[in-house]
Amino acid sequence: MNKRDLLSVTDLSAEELHLVLDLAERPISALGRPLEGLGAALIFEKPSNRTRQSMEMAVVQLGGHPVYTRGEEIQFDVRESVEDVARTMSGYHGVLGARVFRHEVVERLARAATVPVVNMLSDRSHPMQALADVLTMHQVLGRLSGRVVAWVGDYNNVARSLGEACVMLGAQVRYATPDGYGPSSVELQRLEALGPGSVEASVQPEVAVKGADAVHTDTWTSMGQEAEKAQRLETFRGYTVTTDLMRAAAPGAGFYHCAPVYREVEVATEVVDGPQSCVVRQGHNRLHASRALLAFLAGVRS
Ligand code: CP
Ligand code: NVA
Repeated sequence: MNKRDLLSVTDLSAEELHLVLDLAERPISALGRPLEGLGAALIFEKPSNRTRQSMEMAVVQLGGHPVYTRGEEIQFDVRESVEDVARTMSGYHGVLGARVFRHEVVERLARAATVPVVNMLSDRSHPMQALADVLTMHQVLGRLSGRVVAWVGDYNNVARSLGEACVMLGAQVRYATPDGYGPSSVELQRLEALGPGSVEASVQPEVAVKGADAVHTDTWTSMGQEAEKAQRLETFRGYTVTTDLMRAAAPGAGFYHCAPVYREVEVATEVVDGPQSCVVRQGHNRLHASRALLAFLAGVRS
């Protein structure tokens, strides 16, 4: 496979992002078996359900062989360096995937590997989630250009990647986060510069959600932030996506969450389990988006 990494959504051009979304809608048989005879090392320093399952099955559907590997086994920079892992594994596999605590670890993997490296979630970004999220919104809403996408909660890895993808596709993104947990002004400018979409930030969920076509949230305490959990529960009080808050959105607006979901914390049970919820579809779309991205990295273009 040609060396091409996906560490963030912005590693794709807008045209390539559209192509990946298009490939995700194709039947499996239309993509062929571009990973035939190739391995895919999937390294996880953190727990996972959706990402592991969808990536493994995507590799299988493209004719390859996934090798799930726990971070404890590899022990980056303890048992051997990140670079030694990358160089060695490049001899066994057609692609490397990694879920890491520190984003710089996927960057180092990508620099040292001679095969593509895919970020399967870092503290900075979660591009594979964003691909599934925009795919899901595209299926529900049609073209995202001009659509209003609200994010309520923490400006975290998922929020950043979603914002990148949405701006590239021309959507209007509105973040509502507690003071100190939102995008900086520099970050807002960076997002705005990525494409035709726009970005606004406030501290008021009602402002972000008003008239929105899609309302997104995520856990208030990401993996690696467990020590801050009690303080975060306090700080984010008032940012729960409730039925009342959903009433401020456009009629029939979808509710989105990357999952795992913490009911009655960041979202009310009746919202996540109600008719507006797109969460199960988002989860299933992880497979279709992963298959499309891997096929793209393997050179499939049409
Ligand atoms: N959304 C997501 O990445 O889920 P997992 O942590 O279960 O992989
Ligand atoms: N923001 C969450 C996403 C989990 C899929 C985390 O990083 O833990």
